Amino acid sequence: MTNSRFAASRRHVLGAAGAAFATAAVAADGDAPSAAPGVPAGGVHVAGSDEIPAALVGCGGRGGSAITDAFDARGGRVKLTAMADVFPERIVSVRKSLEEQFKERIDVTDDRMFIGFDAFRKAIDALPAGGIAIFATPPAFRAAHFAHAIERGVHVFMEKPVSIDGPSTRRIIELAPQADARRLKVAVGLMCRHCDRRRELQERLRAGEAGEIIAFRGYRTHTPIHDLDLAPGPEGESELMWQVKRFHNFLWASGGVFSDYCIHHIDEVAMMKGGWPTVADAVGGRHFKGKINDQNFDVYSVEYTFDDGVKFFYENRLMRNCRQHFGVYGQGSKGAFTVSTSGHSPAKSTIYRSQRMEKDNVLWTAEQPEPNPYRREWDHFIEAIVTDTPYNEAIRGAEAGLVTAMGRFSAHVGRPVTFQEMLECPEDLTAGVEHLTLESPAPIVADAEGRYPVPNPGRTKFELRGDV
Ligand SMILES: NC(=O)c1ccc[n+]([C@@H]2O[C@H](COP(=O)([O-])OP(=O)(O)OC[C@H]3O[C@@H](n4cnc5c(N)ncnc54)[C@H](O)[C@@H]3O)[C@@H](O)[C@H]2O)c1
Repeated sequence: MTNSRFAASRRHVLGAAGAAFATAAVAADGDAPSAAPGVPAGGVHVAGSDEIPAALVGCGGRGGSAITDAFDARGGRVKLTAMADVFPERIVSVRKSLEEQFKERIDVTDDRMFIGFDAFRKAIDALPAGGIAIFATPPAFRAAHFAHAIERGVHVFMEKPVSIDGPSTRRIIELAPQADARRLKVAVGLMCRHCDRRRELQERLRAGEAGEIIAFRGYRTHTPIHDLDLAPGPEGESELMWQVKRFHNFLWASGGVFSDYCIHHIDEVAMMKGGWPTVADAVGGRHFKGKINDQNFDVYSVEYTFDDGVKFFYENRLMRNCRQHFGVYGQGSKGAFTVSTSGHSPAKSTIYRSQRMEKDNVLWTAEQPEPNPYRREWDHFIEAIVTDTPYNEAIRGAEAGLVTAMGRFSAHVGRPVTFQEMLECPEDLTAGVEHLTLESPAPIVADAEGRYPVPNPGRTKFELRGDV
C-alpha cells in the first residue's frame, strides 16, 4: 500500500501526542478509562478534520449497507477511504454503486483497495489512528480483525455475530478491555438494541405494564434466503473460496443459519428480560436437502430458560412452501406483548390488555413511523466517538453469539447445554482461520460422495468432533 497522505497522517497522529487529536470532550461523568501508553488523553478521532476515515472489510450485501448507514449517521462525518475483500469484483461493484450515490463521501483510490485474507490488515493500516474499521465479512474472521484494529488504535463497528462458539466468544471477551484501555469505541451490529421503540417497550415492561413476565416465544420460519443446495459444487473455484462465498452453509465460517439468522431475535428477548438465558434445550433435524448437503439442520426448536425460570421458546425452520412467520412475543401476568413482528424494522412493539392479541385490545403500540435502528446504532456509535464517551458492545455482542450458539449446539448434540458449559466448550470451529491464504485448503472437505460432515445428535459429545 502506498498512500503517502495517510502514512503521513498516521506518523503525525502518533508522533504529536494530544495535539494531534481533535479536542473532544471527555465523558461528562468522568468515567472514561485512562489512556494506554501512546494514546493521548482525550484522543478520539482524527486530527485536523471533522471527517472520520473508515475502512470497509467485507464488501458484500451488509458491508455496502453498513457504510451507507455510517454516512447517514448524525453529523455526517464518515468518509470511506479503504476497502478490503477476498474477491476483487465485490470491491469494484460496491465502490461503483457507492460512488454513484455518495460521491463526496468516497475517497477509495485503487491503491487503497486490498484483496485477500490479509487485506484487512492493509485496509486498517491505511487508516489513521482514530479512524473506523467496519467488519462485514463472515463471522469466522471477526476476532482476528478486531485484534488488529485495537493494535492500530482504530474504532470498530463489527457486524453480528461476532462469535459462534465457546473459543471465539472467549477471544472477543479477552480483546474487549484492550479496546477500552486505548479509549476505542466498539459497536456490534445488533441494531435492535438501538431501536427507539423497543427501548420504549423495555421501559414499559420494566414499569410492569404487562405484569410479571412469564414467557417469550419467537419464530423465524421462511423459505431459505441463501441457497442451501450446494450442487453443483465448487466448479472452477477453489473449495476454500467457494465455502467462504456460501458461509451460511458451513459451521466453521458462520455457525450456520441458526447463528447467523436467529441472533437478533434471541438478543432482543435478552434485552427485554435484562439478562441471558442460562440453559438451552433444543431439538432439530434434517428432512430433505439438495444434491450436496450443507451442515445445517432444516429445523431447530429451542427452549431457553432464564435463572428465574422464565422460558423463551424459539423456532427456526428454513423450508420452501411452509408457513412463514417472523416475530418475537411475550406473555406477562397482565397481558401479552409483541417485541417485534414481520421484520427487524419497524418493530411494531405492542402491549395488550390481556392475553388476547387483537387490535381492539391494545394497551400501547409503538408510534409510527419508527426511526431506522440500523441508522440509530450509527448515531450512537459516532456520538460516542465524537464525545469520547466509553462505548464498547463487544462483550454483550459475544454473549449474544454464545447464547445463540447454545441453541444450535444443543440441537446438534442432542442434550441441554448451559451458558457456562458453552463458554468453556473446547470445540473451536474457527481454529486457524487467521492463517488462511487464497491458496489454503478449505477447513472442511466433503467425503467421496460429496457429503460434508454433519452433526449427529446423541452420537458425539461435540458438534463435529468425533469425541463420544
Ligand atoms: N445486522 C444485520 O441485520 C445483518 C444483515 C445482513 C448481514 N449481516 C452480517 O454481515 C456479515 C456479512 O453478511 P453479508 O450478507 O453481507 O454476506 P456477503 O457474502 O454478502 O458479504 C460478505 C463479504 O465478505 C467478503 N469476505 C469473506 N471473507 C473475507 C475475509 N476474510 N476478508 C475480507 N473479506 C472477506 C466476501 O467476499 C463478501 O464480499 C455476516 O456476519 C452477517 O451475519 C448482518
